[in-house]
Parts: sequence; structure tokens; C-alpha cells
Amino acid sequence: MPVNPPPPAVLRSAPAAAAAVLAPLTAPIAAELLAVDQLFSRELASDLACVQTLVKYVSRFRGKMLRPVLVLLTGKAAGGTTDAHTVIATVVEMVHMATLVHDDVLDDAELRRKGATINHLRGNEAAVMLGDFLISHAFHLCSSLQSQAASRAIGHTTNVVCEGELLQIDNRNNLDLTEETYFKIIERKTAALTAVCCKLGADFAGATPAVAEAMETFGRNIGTAFQIQDDLLDLTGDVAQVGKSLGADAAKGKLTLPVIHFMRTAPVQHRELLRSLLVGNEPDKNEKIRNLIAPSASLLYASEKAKSLVASARALLATHLSPSVARTCLDELARLVVAREA
Ligand code: IPE
Ligand code: IPE
Ligand code: MG
Ligand code: MG
Repeated sequence: MPVNPPPPAVLRSAPAAAAAVLAPLTAPIAAELLAVDQLFSRELASDLACVQTLVKYVSRFRGKMLRPVLVLLTGKAAGGTTDAHTVIATVVEMVHMATLVHDDVLDDAELRRKGATINHLRGNEAAVMLGDFLISHAFHLCSSLQSQAASRAIGHTTNVVCEGELLQIDNRNNLDLTEETYFKIIERKTAALTAVCCKLGADFAGATPAVAEAMETFGRNIGTAFQIQDDLLDLTGDVAQVGKSLGADAAKGKLTLPVIHFMRTAPVQHRELLRSLLVGNEPDKNEKIRNLIAPSASLLYASEKAKSLVASARALLATHLSPSVARTCLDELARLVVAREA
């Protein structure tokens, strides 16, 4: 078994910023979130010590729980939650964690949720299988629901998420990546999952098809904005606060919105400089790219795009849901997607 150093002290002692991001919004769904936590652990139990150890690694640090929170808050806001919401919320967190464990293999990432990644701790083979174990458990649990509607919808979503990751791999080191293709990638790899969370939250609360569709669009908009913000944090964020490996996009030849904008709008010498940084392999590559882009309008361009998606999402809430505490929390959550630093 490879022995790797623990994360730097600064990360071990940092406050749990990521988990705290959504905490104030979870009061109306506190009991359901606790049930999700318990179901998650119960479902992933194994009699094998080696499996228990890996499951303990991934369960050690809580993330923001954004996807379960979306299922539960849309459920509450669209008519009320049921036991099915707890199951669906657990399923989507398992799917999400499977994608993270695999994504860290693709990105060679060493840090996740302020702890070492599975690939860093145990190698790629264990990480690939643990990701499969999580996704397999997700669908096993989902099939316990009386209706097959959630399994079909989430199965379709995981197909789309994989397509998004494959499209991203296909565009690795494509310095001419267009905004159109960038959005195609992030809508599939990230926004498809947040969209289905909100749609199912509403569907299983007995909402009308029109409301469920509006919630799906709400989820897609905030998911897209969420990934734009994530990409901004990858370029400019503080590793102690974000708690995961940063600079991975530049290191892996993934062009993100500010970089694409800069490539289209900056003076030609600056563009040439960015091209050479992107194809090069300097140790401080991300910092140099950040310093080049920071004085331009490109960071602002990306964050304005994210903000306008969030504004459309918030308008949908106001139009399609009656006022309630849960709706207010969803609205605040949408705002936080672009305000967050972790
Ligand atoms: C990270 O998702 C992966 C992306 C889609 C950007 P989160 O930032 O929601 O991860 P956790 O669950 O809080 O760790
Ligand atoms: C999100 O992309 C990948 C998934 C949808 C799983 P990133 O590669 O940007 O995610 P992080 O930044 O590693 O969490
Ligand atoms: Mg990654
Ligand atoms: Mg990222």
C-alpha cells in the first residue's frame, strides 16, 4: 500500500468552510439530511475490512451536500417531502461522490474535501473500483423505490454526465475551444445532475409537470453557474479555503470560461503568451496564467455569466413556487452558488 504524507497543516486546521457554505439554509430539512446521512452509511456497509476502510475514507469529510439539499428543498417547496425524497437524496450524493472519486483519477488530484484523495492514498485501481462501488450502490438503492421513474431519470443523467466527461477529454489541450463547446461540457458533466435533483424533488412532492420542468431548468441554471464558479476557483481560489487540488484545469489542458474569453479578446501578444503557458509545463503554470488574466475583463466576464444564470434561476422560483421558508432557502442557495469561495 503506498504511504503518502498527510495534507499540509494549514488544511488540517482550516475551518470546514465547504460544509459551512450551505449550513444556514438547511434548517427546514435538518431531519431529512440526518436520515440521508444514516441511510448513506447503512447502504455502504460491507463485511470486508478493506471495503470498510475505503468507505471510511470517502465518508470522512463531508462536502457541501448540495445535491441532497436540492432534492429536499425543492421537495419541501413544491408540496412536501416523503421517504422517497430521502432515498433519492442519498442516491444523488452517492452518484456525485462516485463522479468525484473518478474525476480525481482523471485529474491526478491529491486533495479533496481537505483530505487526501483515494487515488493518492490507495492508487488508481482502488479509486476506479470504489467509484464503481458507489455508483452500483446508488442504483441498487434507487431500485428500492416503488416507482422506476427516479431510476430512469438518474440513469439518463449518469449517461449524460459520462458524455460530458468524454467530451472534455476529447477537447483536452484544444486551445481553440469555443464557448459553445465549453457550455456543452459543463451542462452535461455538472448541470445535468443538479437539474435532475430539482426535477425529482418536485415530481415526488406531487408538483405539476410544469412546476417540475421549471425546477429542472432552475437546477440546470444553477449547476452551470456552479461549475463556472468552480472553474474560477480552480484558477484564482485559495487552496486552504477550497480544500481540493487547484490549478487542475490548466494542468490537464482544460480550457475554462475566463481562458476562452481571454483567447478571444486579449491583445495578440497576450494571447500568444497564454498559448505558450497553456501548452508548457512550468511548475507555477496556474499562477502565471492567473496573473496574466487577472488584469483583463475575462474573470469578470465569467462571473457575470454565472450571475446571469443565477438570476434566471431565481426568477423561476418566484414564478412557479408559492412563498415558503423552503423557497426562500432555495433562493438564497442560488445566490450562494456564485458568492461562494469554497
Ligand atoms: C465538485 O462538487 C465537483 C463539481 C461539480 C464542481 P462540489 O463542490 O459540490 O463538491 P462537494 O460535494 O462539496 O465536495
Ligand atoms: C467537475 O469538474 C467534475 C464532475 C462533474 C465530477 P472538476 O474537475 O472541475 O471538479 P473538481 O474541481 O475536481 O471538483
Ligand atoms: Mg477535478
Ligand atoms: Mg474544478
